[in-house]
Amino acid sequence: MSARIDAFVVATPGLEVLVQGELTRLGVRPANVTHGGVNCSLTWPQLWAVHLKSRIATRVLVRVARFKADGFDTLHAGLSRIDWAAWLPPGGVEVTASTDGKSKLFHTGAIVERVAAQIGRGEGAQQVQVRVVRDVATVSIDASGLALHKRGYRGPAGKAPVRETLAAALIAAGEWDVKKPLVDPFCGSGTVLIEAAMRARRIAPGRHRTFQFMQWPSFDPAGWERLVKGADSDVIERCPPVLGSDRDEGAVAATLANAATAGVAGDIEVVRRSASDIELPAAAGWIVTNPPYGSRVGGPDVRDLYDRFGAVLRERAGGWHIAMLASRDTPVSRLHLPLVPTLETSNGGIHVAVHTGTVPQADIRT
Ligand SMILES: C[S@@+](CC[C@H](N)C(=O)[O-])C[C@H]1O[C@@H](n2cnc3c(N)ncnc32)[C@H](O)[C@@H]1O
Repeated sequence: MSARIDAFVVATPGLEVLVQGELTRLGVRPANVTHGGVNCSLTWPQLWAVHLKSRIATRVLVRVARFKADGFDTLHAGLSRIDWAAWLPPGGVEVTASTDGKSKLFHTGAIVERVAAQIGRGEGAQQVQVRVVRDVATVSIDASGLALHKRGYRGPAGKAPVRETLAAALIAAGEWDVKKPLVDPFCGSGTVLIEAAMRARRIAPGRHRTFQFMQWPSFDPAGWERLVKGADSDVIERCPPVLGSDRDEGAVAATLANAATAGVAGDIEVVRRSASDIELPAAAGWIVTNPPYGSRVGGPDVRDLYDRFGAVLRERAGGWHIAMLASRDTPVSRLHLPLVPTLETSNGGIHVAVHTGTVPQADIRT
């Protein structure tokens, strides 16, 4: 088996460039960034490191073969050259297929059937994906298992929670300075706060879970242990103020429980409070938040909420930076703040944008 592997690091569309930045910081040279992910060549330890340390990637697919497949004969020939036993442990697979609609092989159900028959295993957890584009098949195996946003700290879902990876992306897109306070006045189940505390303390997000690649013959448990030990030794105790509030008592309880599971309970303060009563530390920092969109929770009074929230920010948050997730129908302009959409992506099927900017100082505002 080769010392390097071709990988596709999957990202939610819109977050690819942030994932590219993470890969670069991990010492990976991304080959190219494309819609929905980043192509790159990885060593095996780098594959494990992406799982341990990426905060924003969705999953990693390993490309095991790429060959011309302009009919079932060539598909069969290409598949027969794959040494499945070298890649995968004994056990079942789940095959999925997709095509560009312009290739001779277009019936995805038939492709799945042929591939599953040729691999010759029963059904199981290991995902195998076949994608046919312009008569070329790419066969990939999923290295991650559960998607990477499933860090394992979140209990029963709160009201419209953001994925952990999107919360991390919101923090990154807002360019939070990890030494400055971070406040989320609509904290829900605490995802933004927990991701912020983990990032400030350099806690590896994949530290407490397992991944599909751990089942593969290529996995070296001792090498993984060394990587985890190294990541643990990077963790620092210092954390700036990370403060949350929500008007809902259940949300406060969920945040506390989730923070405890994530190991950052001591780094986060959370209280029950309406956003219009926001209290901020004296030193300016970042308000990073995912308020009700109107289309998910919040209901008909959402315009009123944005009027009041804008007024209180203009009055009390001069000099604070804002990173706010909002959908197309969110009345962001009612905040009357100089915010601009800097990143567009989706959350639970809804098109959303991260709006960023700085609240003007009250005395210099016109
Ligand atoms: C979209 S959810 C936030 C989800 C959160 N980011 C998470 O991951 O769980 C919006 C939250 O705003 C809270 N909320 C709505 N109106 C509020 C208000 N006026 N003041 C404070 N919180 C409010 C809701 O209780 C809800 O938890």
